[in-house]
Amino acid sequence: MTERNFIPNIYNATLEKGSVTWQSPSNIALVKYWGKKKDQIPENPSISFTLDHCKTITTIEFSKKDNLENFDFEVYLDGEKKDDFKPKIQTFFERVEIYLPFLKQYRFIIKTENTFPHSSGIASSASGMSALALCLMSVEKQLIESDVIVSAVEEDFDDAYFNQKASFLARLGSGSACRSIEGDLIVWGKTKSIGGSTDLFGIKYPYKVHENFKEYQDTILLVDKGEKQVSSTVGHNLMYDHPYAQNRFEQAHQNLENLKGILESGDLAAFNALVESEALTLHAMMMTSMPYFILMKPNTLEIINKIWEFRQNTGLNISFTLDAGANVHVLYPKKESQEILQFIQRELVAYCQNGHYICDQIGFGAQLIKNE
Ligand code: DP6
Repeated sequence: MTERNFIPNIYNATLEKGSVTWQSPSNIALVKYWGKKKDQIPENPSISFTLDHCKTITTIEFSKKDNLENFDFEVYLDGEKKDDFKPKIQTFFERVEIYLPFLKQYRFIIKTENTFPHSSGIASSASGMSALALCLMSVEKQLIESDVIVSAVEEDFDDAYFNQKASFLARLGSGSACRSIEGDLIVWGKTKSIGGSTDLFGIKYPYKVHENFKEYQDTILLVDKGEKQVSSTVGHNLMYDHPYAQNRFEQAHQNLENLKGILESGDLAAFNALVESEALTLHAMMMTSMPYFILMKPNTLEIINKIWEFRQNTGLNISFTLDAGANVHVLYPKKESQEILQFIQRELVAYCQNGHYICDQIGFGAQLIKNE
């Protein structure tokens, strides 16, 4: 599979107008993507749990236009026009135009909303970019299916290809977005221990997963809902010339291989150690970049220490991971959820901004809501 597989033939059919809606979830990485090459090719493989409740719902309304020179689109978030989202989508359209050659033929109204609070500090780029990529794939699918000449392309346009190309396009919008199309565990980035893995798109984790990891819980503690002072894109770029980058990239391959054994055996203690080490390594990379930066807040550390103390005292399988921010994702198996949730409410919620947190769990990917 190469990029070329995603360049379609000329479409023979045209559509005058239509509307399509997808909902797509966020995801939380266990082995982290941090560092990328040109065209959003990751420096190392990553694996994530797809989430269930934190989602973006996006509708695109498209109508044929005559002027083929420019992209023509408007963006709305929760019904409000959002011109500040336009540059990111413009860049995305430029990157994917070669794979979706109809883009300049239509005017698009993009309407989007998130199920999680707007300023929760939860990155919406994974769910947002994957939802947009899926909507555009549905337009392409309609164009191909309404073609009177049944071509070889149509025959190849099955669900597997649809998901692969949606993931491939989403990656070009935001790297981690390629892991949000399907669930429940997704691998992105070529690595020898995972057959079929590729830098181009996310694949479903192809091996056996122990019962312990089914319905795994993720309670997201909203420590800081503000804008991040350093964006992920800037952070990724700081991995160029980073003194520890090469070792980190090798470690991610090794951690994925180790995680494969853990997922099979159901060894929760080893799982906890691996995901926490990944989270702290991610933040260690930030702290050792030049310029260096810290995204954790004092309450992030308070929570981590409380989690360690509680785990030590109870033997329960609670662990944490972090993404590029101060919020803490508390991970635990479904069967231990009663005691752990009580602990979270009793001792951790006090460290959240306005006491806010979100209870989520592993999910199974995006869903088509409407296609007219
Ligand atoms: C720390 O996917 O947000 O969450 O590709 O520049 O859009 P861009 O970055 P993004 O980076 C996410 C980094 C991370 C780890 C992860 O999700 O694997």
